[in-house]
Amino acid sequence: MTVMRVGIVGCGEVTQIMHLPSLNQLSDRFQVTALCDISAKVLDEVSSAWNVSNRFQDYRDLVKQDDVDAVLVANPNAYHAQVVLAAIAAGKHVLIEKPMCMNLREADEIIAAANQHPEVVVQVGYMRRYAPAFAAACKQIPDLGPIRLARVHDILGRNSLFIKDTSKVVRADDIPQEAIVENQQLVDQGIAEAIGDGPPELRFVYSLLLGLSSHDISAMRELLGMPKRVLYAAQRQGGLYLSAAFDYGDFVCQFETGIDSIPRFDAHLEVYGEERMLRVQYNTPYVRNLPIRLTVTELSEEGGVVEHTEQPAWGDAFVAEWQAFYENIVEQRVPKTSPADFRKDLELFVSMVTLMRN
Ligand SMILES: NC(=O)c1ccc[n+]([C@@H]2O[C@H](COP(=O)([O-])OP(=O)(O)OC[C@H]3O[C@@H](n4cnc5c(N)ncnc54)[C@H](O)[C@@H]3O)[C@@H](O)[C@H]2O)c1
Repeated sequence: MTVMRVGIVGCGEVTQIMHLPSLNQLSDRFQVTALCDISAKVLDEVSSAWNVSNRFQDYRDLVKQDDVDAVLVANPNAYHAQVVLAAIAAGKHVLIEKPMCMNLREADEIIAAANQHPEVVVQVGYMRRYAPAFAAACKQIPDLGPIRLARVHDILGRNSLFIKDTSKVVRADDIPQEAIVENQQLVDQGIAEAIGDGPPELRFVYSLLLGLSSHDISAMRELLGMPKRVLYAAQRQGGLYLSAAFDYGDFVCQFETGIDSIPRFDAHLEVYGEERMLRVQYNTPYVRNLPIRLTVTELSEEGGVVEHTEQPAWGDAFVAEWQAFYENIVEQRVPKTSPADFRKDLELFVSMVTLMRN
């Protein structure tokens, strides 16, 4: 097996808890050869803990390295586009944490760059879509018959509630003030370009859509296809709670999300047919290897109800995502979570925010 050499840009929470352990588990396929973080403290401690000697504080230096075949982009959202473009230009494969970028202009630049470099695989890190239980649900959709209703639900406690008792994370508390200001300016500009002017709660909504909801809405699209339009969208509690309805013609998909202080993670997708329904249930990604399950509930031959729950494989969705990335590189395939696929999420987010203005 060819071993892909990976350089990581951004060594914070998701890299420390999810990506480095996943890459370590897949050491027959991947070797981490370079790390980059703007925080000297994070860079130093994470590189030492994982025994990586090539360390950079500027991503432009990392993407130039000859011993890097693929780049993981896991720094703050507002920097994703520039890092992805630099990595593609340097001829490196790229796995980008969601959101791929902040707005449609950046998405189109990445799509154009990826089209100019078809030898390079560019995959968006929607790991929930690589979970075997989700793939099993997608396969079973045609057997449901006409869909009557669907539901996408994501209510969870803040990430810190899960992390504090399960992981140790080295925090970037030494980032220079000008870098903090620059990041905030890039966030503000990126959001303004996406949705125009608006009250703070709408800017917060857009950030929540890019962050948490992009998982839910992209999974909805893979399971059910692209909706015809957004029927309604509303926000409450300063943008922390969202609900929306997506029009699929013969049925409507309800969406609801919110973040509270109960340390539980309830993210699920439900699809209702006449005699059978499917439910994919996710758990927090911050505790590795928690089961992701598909439950099928249906009318039995005897006129009763049969329910069965499957967990097609043990393992973590982040590992499944890296396995798919590897196969996409080796087989020169365009990932299902491609830049063009991500663009569809941005289109829906802009429609949702537009409806929330009314
Ligand atoms: N797939 C998922 O479920 C999932 C979960 C969490 C986070 N994420 C995504 O991963 C990314 C990182 O999230 P996180 O929670 O690890 O954040 P984090 O704040 O914990 O880590 C970000 C790291 O990037 C570093 N950084 C900041 N600016 C930088 C720059 N210009 N160049 C290089 N490094 C820089 C910081 O010092 C920090 O160590 C985000 O895009 C986030 O949306 C995805």
